[in-house]
Amino acid sequence: MKERGSFNSRFTAIMAMAGSAIGLGNIWRFPYMVGQNGGAAFILVYLFSAVFLCIPIFLAESIIGKRTHLSTFGAMEKLAPGTRWKWMGFLTVFTPLIILSYYSVVGGWSIEYFLKSLSLSFSDPAVSMDEHSAVFGGFISSTWAPIVFHTLFLLVNAVVIIFGVRGGIERFTKLTTPVLFVLIVLIMLYSVNLPGAAAGIDYLIHPDFSKLTGSALLSAMGQAFFSLSLGVGCILTYASYLKRDENLLATGIFTATFDLLFAIIAGFAIMPAVFAAGIEPGAGPGLIFETLPFIFSTMGVDAPWLCNIVAILFFLTILFAALTSSISMLEVGVAYLVDQRKMSRTRATALLFACCWALGVLCSLSFGPLRDFHVFGMSIFDACDHLTSDFLMTFGSLLFVFFVGWKMKKADVRGEFTNDGSLRFNARVFNVVYFFIRYVAPAAIIVIFVSNLLM
Ligand code: PHE
Repeated sequence: MKERGSFNSRFTAIMAMAGSAIGLGNIWRFPYMVGQNGGAAFILVYLFSAVFLCIPIFLAESIIGKRTHLSTFGAMEKLAPGTRWKWMGFLTVFTPLIILSYYSVVGGWSIEYFLKSLSLSFSDPAVSMDEHSAVFGGFISSTWAPIVFHTLFLLVNAVVIIFGVRGGIERFTKLTTPVLFVLIVLIMLYSVNLPGAAAGIDYLIHPDFSKLTGSALLSAMGQAFFSLSLGVGCILTYASYLKRDENLLATGIFTATFDLLFAIIAGFAIMPAVFAAGIEPGAGPGLIFETLPFIFSTMGVDAPWLCNIVAILFFLTILFAALTSSISMLEVGVAYLVDQRKMSRTRATALLFACCWALGVLCSLSFGPLRDFHVFGMSIFDACDHLTSDFLMTFGSLLFVFFVGWKMKKADVRGEFTNDGSLRFNARVFNVVYFFIRYVAPAAIIVIFVSNLLM
């Protein structure tokens, strides 16, 4: 049998999982989702989903991965041989690829902004907010530049996957993730002290439940799943690299806490500045790219050098956070083609690169030449985003908890969760966790799904 790699310490395991989880979802997507869905009430549903749904789903996925030491397709076949569960494998190949297509468009925007920061173009306090917005609007609605950067971002992913410089990337992110964390905390402290920031803080802490429509509920849950990379087999695949005696509960709680904290801090870094700058909170996917230059240029009034250093470091670390997430999306598909379809790693990567590139080009053009082309009333970019995070990831998560709660033997689930009884604390909480996996998580997902259809 082929030797499979494994993470050699809990720290590396958590870092890899946190690397997949922490990405553009926390820094780019969370703040604009909050802005589009009414603020604090959205955050409450998000927090509720993260604690009561995401941790059980995370555990369900990692139980399957650690038990089988296989990626999705093989894992399902091993645990439920000859059944339709193996189709789950297909779902988990397609969903991350659709996500990767539009994710890499935003990854491309980050490259552009990183290059801009290198040319020290954020330190001029004379540039007004409207000018920053106009520059961003002009950039994303142009035809070629965003496509070039999208291609570049995707190419980096492909190269990393082909050459497997995973060790390198992992070693690097061990450094960049903490740096990003420190930077986002500093930016938050700066942002909440800007004149006019109070309205933004208020927006984040005083819930207005009238804004909580069915689709806001679904989006909050979807955002929680998106942020933790759930329902698409990434966590399952990473868990398959865990050592047999790893404590799943600890890994899950650490990863979820880091991820959650990151998103909330990003919210407090961006939203007060949004209000201080007079930007519309519901501005959509461009929100951080319009707000951050404003933050940097106000910093530039007193300390242009500081503003430049922070801007460069910030966009560089965002890029790395984005890469560790996007690589995990591509890896699921490549692993499937290599393991199940016996394709070479290079061919598999080239094939998936081509698919994601083509769909990504359409997503990119949907901010410009294709802006009037709508799918289900949405731009191509938004349609890909909603289809994946609100439906496919949610559906995938539902299937995972359903599988572990109803299809696997309870004794096997307990054995995996408690390492055959050796983890005393896990043994004590097992029944509660199992109850959440078996009843609460599937019921809540179905209720939120249905309420979205009805409201
Ligand atoms: N969790 C990642 C982020 O927050 C996105 C992601 C989604 C990664 C699905 C893998 C799979 O950016």
